[in-house]
Amino acid sequence: MRFLWQLFLVALATASPATERGSINGCKTLASKFQGRVYYPDSTTYANETTAYWAENVILQPSCVFSPQNAKDIASAILILKSSKTKFAVRGNGHMTVKGAASIENGVLIVLTKFRQMTISSDSTVASIGPGLRWIDVYEWIQQYNRVVVGARYAPVGVSGFLLGGGISFLGGQYGWGASSVINYEVVTGDGKIIQANKNTNSDLFWALKGGGSNFGIVTRFDLQTHPTSQIYGGLMTWNQSTVNSAINALAAFAAPGGGIDNPKAALLPNVAIDPATKSQSAAFFAFYNDADARVLSNFSDTASLNLAKMTTYADFIAGTAAGAAGNFRAAFHCGSFKASSQTVKMINDTVTRDAYSKLANLEGVTISLSIQPLAKSWFAASRKAGGDAIDMDPSAGSLIVLNLVVQWKNASDDKKIATWSKDVLAKLSKEAKKVGLHSDFLYLNDAQEGAKPFPTYGGGKSRAKLLAIRKKYDANGVFQSLMPGGFKLGS
Ligand SMILES: Cc1cc2nc3c(=O)[nH]c(=O)nc-3n(C[C@H](O)[C@H](O)[C@H](O)COP(=O)(O)OP(=O)(O)OC[C@H]3O[C@@H](n4cnc5c(N)ncnc54)[C@H](O)[C@@H]3O)c2cc1C
Ligand SMILES: *[C@@H]1O[C@H](CO)[C@@H](O)[C@H](O)[C@H]1NC(C)=O
Ligand SMILES: *[C@@H]1O[C@H](CO)[C@@H](O)[C@H](O)[C@H]1NC(C)=O
Ligand SMILES: *[C@@H]1O[C@H](CO)[C@@H](O)[C@H](O)[C@H]1NC(C)=O
Ligand SMILES: *[C@@H]1O[C@H](CO)[C@@H](O)[C@H](O)[C@H]1NC(C)=O
Ligand SMILES: *[C@@H]1O[C@H](CO)[C@@H](O)[C@H](O)[C@H]1NC(C)=O
Repeated sequence: MRFLWQLFLVALATASPATERGSINGCKTLASKFQGRVYYPDSTTYANETTAYWAENVILQPSCVFSPQNAKDIASAILILKSSKTKFAVRGNGHMTVKGAASIENGVLIVLTKFRQMTISSDSTVASIGPGLRWIDVYEWIQQYNRVVVGARYAPVGVSGFLLGGGISFLGGQYGWGASSVINYEVVTGDGKIIQANKNTNSDLFWALKGGGSNFGIVTRFDLQTHPTSQIYGGLMTWNQSTVNSAINALAAFAAPGGGIDNPKAALLPNVAIDPATKSQSAAFFAFYNDADARVLSNFSDTASLNLAKMTTYADFIAGTAAGAAGNFRAAFHCGSFKASSQTVKMINDTVTRDAYSKLANLEGVTISLSIQPLAKSWFAASRKAGGDAIDMDPSAGSLIVLNLVVQWKNASDDKKIATWSKDVLAKLSKEAKKVGLHSDFLYLNDAQEGAKPFPTYGGGKSRAKLLAIRKKYDANGVFQSLMPGGFKLGS
């Protein structure tokens, strides 16, 4: 299936040569400087790289693909792209579900496939990793040092998009955002310089990159504070149609103030699946406890139909999430946030499920997944303690539920209907939440839908002006606003 799809795209791309003159010039100049690193639609590497996305609906046809080998390559490419006024996109590992975020129609697609470096300091406390890696690569490598990094919960997610948007991990209650553990970024700027950003050098950029996304430059290396790990408790738990309410009730109890959410070592990756065609629900949760005594998760382990949770290594636990993250379909994430409480969990379940049953039953192959993610106030406190970031959530405002409404579907002719339904149901939810005082403005960039505006929600509204000023300082010509238009942009 996947193979046929790729062939189809190659045929399409070959039949309709890119028309944008600037793009073609950009490709030509890049190709003459970097021989064998620029790929056109007639090559298998082009076919491979332009289809390496998690969701089918974000796949586009760039004029060419550029696969740089190091930061210097990117620095000189930026100057070529600027002088030829060529639009471009950058792909980490292609997991963002927003069309054009990490892909581009015509223009140059820069892929970070070759950036797979992993080194560790002699005392094992700092790991330097490349932006082309997947999190599972890093976890499996670093396990030998009995260390862990604050990365994604799903194995194949890309290191770089995740860290630039903040990063929700199983370790957030203890260490904050994934970005909170970044101690240095190597960045290629819009004027083709390679600079470092850390708490002493370019410290304003250092702060901005923690949640600021693709607005400031191309990150070519992340230096991460590592954390100790030994055996942890974790694994998949599932509930079928007849037991699913036990999962939702357990999650509701977990989300209440004083519930499991207030134990920084406990974490859940909950997915309540809704099948509108059969009007049924089921649940698949990854449960995690960063220690042995996981009593805080007993409401889950006592009721699950299938329980694979056990004492194991962090890397082994994350490897178990690979199946849950297989791509190959049309999919979109949508984000909304709420104050954490039992009522919040029930309200999300009830509102979205009923609406999906009544409005989506006749669309082909639709599955909704409610990822009702608890983000504890200890998380926001840990992020501030680690030095702060652009997202800057206030722990005194309490814990949050950050909902990722994941919709998967089959048919391209349903794209618009799905987008409209998702927008409407999120609006309905937020209206209900406002009525009962449970609404939060926060939009998590990595779970946000096309057109969403996460930056105005950062720091209770205070971060955006600062981000804009930093952006003007490091990218005065707006290379990452207009020449690289994809993803969530600060605007002006
Ligand atoms: C199956 C699945 C599971 C997920 N699980 C989690 C999770 O557990 N926690 C969580 O927080 N999020 C999760 N996400 C969301 C994920 O964090 C985002 O999709 C993230 O953007 C993925 O990073 P990437 O490198 O794969 O993305 P890409 O799609 O490659 O890039 C995302 C954006 O970042 C930009 N970008 C990428 N690399 C660079 C760079 N080096 N320099 C500058 N800009 C760059 C791109 O241009 C693009 O705009 C998940 C997504 C999926 C599909
Ligand atoms: C295609 O992509 C896969 C997976 O990323 C990789 O292993 C393979 O070498 C690539 N092939 C080409 C021709 O680029
Ligand atoms: C389990 O759920 C009940 C409510 O159903 C709640 O009172 C209790 O605190 C929960 N236990 C834990 C350990 O969270
Ligand atoms: C659902 O799981 C329960 C036990 O966890 C089991 O008894 C029941 O048969 C299952 N139902 C279906 C429809 O599979
Ligand atoms: C979840 O929502 C569905 C649909 O409204 C409802 O039937 C079910 O009882 C809800 N579950 C819980 C635990 O509230
Ligand atoms: C997609 O939907 C269109 C219009 O509703 C329909 O004609 C077409 O057969 C569907 N495609 C597939 C692959 O089912």
